[in-house]
Amino acid sequence: MPISVLFIGDVVGKPGRAGLAAAMPELRDRYSPDLVIANGENSAGGVGITEKTAGELFECGVDVITTGNHVYKHREAYRFLDESERVIRPANYPAANPGRGHTIVERAGRRIGVINLSGSMYLTVARYPFPEADALLERLDGEVDAVICDFHCELTSEKVAMGWHLDGRAAAVLGTHTHVPTADARVLPGGTAYISDVGMTGSRAGVIGVRREQAVKAFRTQMPIRFETADEDVWVNGAVVSVRDDGLADSIEQVLTPVPG
Ligand SMILES: [Fe+2]
Ligand SMILES: [Fe+2]
Repeated sequence: MPISVLFIGDVVGKPGRAGLAAAMPELRDRYSPDLVIANGENSAGGVGITEKTAGELFECGVDVITTGNHVYKHREAYRFLDESERVIRPANYPAANPGRGHTIVERAGRRIGVINLSGSMYLTVARYPFPEADALLERLDGEVDAVICDFHCELTSEKVAMGWHLDGRAAAVLGTHTHVPTADARVLPGGTAYISDVGMTGSRAGVIGVRREQAVKAFRTQMPIRFETADEDVWVNGAVVSVRDDGLADSIEQVLTPVPG
């Protein structure tokens, strides 16, 4: 029996958290997910994550939280990142940094490895993501039945390359970080579900999560501007992947859902 994995793009601030909570019943009805993964790197105040915001995502029914370049914004979360087995950060950050780069969850009798990697172009990493992905897969070999990768990455070229690099070895390579959904969701020939970016969960009325008048002013004036999280017209962006018994994907469907109410 294939299992259904719902993956939710970067949840941005309180509007994103509240929006996800409001949308989850409908998403559960529509996709009956066995596993829910959400990127939480923007969940606290639009940048970073805390134990409290992670807790809110777990309360929505999220099983695993992935992150990215904003993961260390809030110092008070470092201990939580070390202790939590269900919140992960890119594996190719310095090994001594708080947190872990992968986790294993059992759902519907299947062991799913969730891995988080960061792109190396315009983002800071300790090790390149491609050999890191190989090392992680080798480490998880025999311990998991399928692998889902959140590739938190700026460049579509690096993302597409990672899709091909893991094709036939991971159930899914799902891009995050740009907050803008791409129109290239597909299952690659080797059986890996791929999308360059799932998008974000938050206000569509802003500029990738920030109030648009502030973001436009920053670009217009090139002066420092205090950013606040946009809160109108909240959407949940993500993807649903059907994962077969052999650990590869049957299908990937993009999720672009306005929050009800
Ligand atoms: Fe983000
Ligand atoms: Fe990011």
